Amino acid sequence: MSKNTKRSVDRLIETAVQAQKRAYCPYSRYSVGAAVLTEGGRVFPGCNVENASYGLAMCAERAAIYHAVASGHDSIKAVAVVGAAAKPCGACRQVMYEFSDKDTAIYLVDLNPKTGRRAVLKTTVFKLLPLAFDPLTSGLLPANPRNLLRRKSVAKRPINKRRQKRK
Ligand code: THU
Repeated sequence: MSKNTKRSVDRLIETAVQAQKRAYCPYSRYSVGAAVLTEGGRVFPGCNVENASYGLAMCAERAAIYHAVASGHDSIKAVAVVGAAAKPCGACRQVMYEFSDKDTAIYLVDLNPKTGRRAVLKTTVFKLLPLAFDPLTSGLLPANPRNLLRRKSVAKRPINKRRQKRK
């Protein structure tokens, strides 16, 4: 890992650590922080936000991704997730996949709230979601595929070509 990469990974993890402190989780009392590093080098935080209507809870990972996309950044280079043995849920894996390519790294930071000790596991978003539902291979190419075109080289031929031509 180059010095620059290490610096941006440290910044990413630190942003997620700070975001965890802002989690709104009075019902589960399980706080999660996340951060997204975009291709352009910007970092966006997210935390879980719960609601009295329990089903409306939003996970930290999706909050961070939506934060980045809403700010105009939809290509993700890396993600960090911080919590007590935090692992992204299935819904978040699919949402992260949408904006990732095969190299998008994810750092799972197990932060012990009592000791403050951190254990970091590094993997990729693609590895976390084998046999993912992929809009390119399923022929569901959106009108403006921007981020998805980055991984066109790894995608199989779309099944529904008529649908693609209409674009
Ligand atoms: N949660 C996250 O924020 N990220 C995950 O990956 C798993 C779960 C949140 C949702 C809810 O607020 C709380 O953790 C308990 O499920």
